[in-house]
Amino acid sequence: MLVRTSMNTKEAIIKNNIEKHAAPIGTTLDRFIAQKQGEFSYATGELSQLLRDIALAAKIINREVNRAGLTGIEGSIGEENVQGENQLMLDVVADTRFHRALIKGGQTCGIVSEERENLTLTGNSHAKYLVAIDPLDGSSNLGINISIGSIFSIYRRKTSTNEVPTLEDVMQKGSEQVAAGYVLYGSSTMLVYSTGYDVHGFTLEPSLGEFILSHPSMKIPEEGTIFSVNEGGYYDFSEGIREYIDHCKKQRFKARYTGALVADFHRNLMKGGIFMYPATASHPNGKLRLMYECNALSFLIERAGGIATNGKRRVLDIEPTDLHQRIPFFIGSPKMVNELLSRA
Ligand code: AHG
Ligand code: MN
Ligand code: MN
Repeated sequence: MLVRTSMNTKEAIIKNNIEKHAAPIGTTLDRFIAQKQGEFSYATGELSQLLRDIALAAKIINREVNRAGLTGIEGSIGEENVQGENQLMLDVVADTRFHRALIKGGQTCGIVSEERENLTLTGNSHAKYLVAIDPLDGSSNLGINISIGSIFSIYRRKTSTNEVPTLEDVMQKGSEQVAAGYVLYGSSTMLVYSTGYDVHGFTLEPSLGEFILSHPSMKIPEEGTIFSVNEGGYYDFSEGIREYIDHCKKQRFKARYTGALVADFHRNLMKGGIFMYPATASHPNGKLRLMYECNALSFLIERAGGIATNGKRRVLDIEPTDLHQRIPFFIGSPKMVNELLSRA
């Protein structure tokens, strides 16, 4: 009888072990993209390939970000980018990685990047899509091991394929985006994107090198208790913005600000909150860039049930006038943004 019991226990342990190690890994990003593509009869697979190219660049950048402290890649190159901002080696590496993945992938005819002054023509004139990227967002967090990100917007060209793309192809309103997303290199690495329907989040399983669906159909809570703003600028903000910040404090809301837009946005999307980068007298357009920071996140927040505004109008309705134009930016839970707008 004793022997029989121990056999049963052993068998159960073996069975459990096999089940544990043979458990499904979940839905990979590639499989998810393929499934979604099948839902649209007009889809030709080009956008799917483009999203896979972005995911590949993200995985390579993730590798560089993860070991940055060991490879000496986190330092400055001693030059400024087109924004007049200090450029880090990893800013350039991330920019190069995105360009290479998009050019070799073949689905992108033009690329706008924070790190390059002009529209880059990829030579793939047959391709339908253009991409705007912030290759590395919040890069000043790099040397101190705090979260950073990448941001991307995808547009369909206006000119016909096989023509050389022009600025008109990419200088479209954010509402024209066909897809947008970001990658967060945080305590885990996530890719979050939308093709205009739901917003889906995928977590990188590092031992497999695969993004696995972990956060399907993300929604921002209607009301939140987190406000994210660089309060160092408080005395330079308008009276309305100062009043709203005071309101947040009187409500005993939590102040949370990492200095990386992607990280602050992601936290607020998950928990409910508002992110603000207001105008100041010396920077009347704020700091954040419409084409490759604000538009993508505004596209996502609206699909997730939130609001994005420059304080006067919906971000997605702004006609771009410059590849690198800046706007004041307020984004988050609808009740919080509306409360701010009632004072702005
Ligand atoms: P980037 O690293 O791409 O230049 O972006 C930095 C941005 C954004 O991520 C962040 O929200 C903001 O700069 C922080 O600016 P302050 O340091 O002025 O608060
Ligand atoms: Mn940025
Ligand atoms: Mn950047």
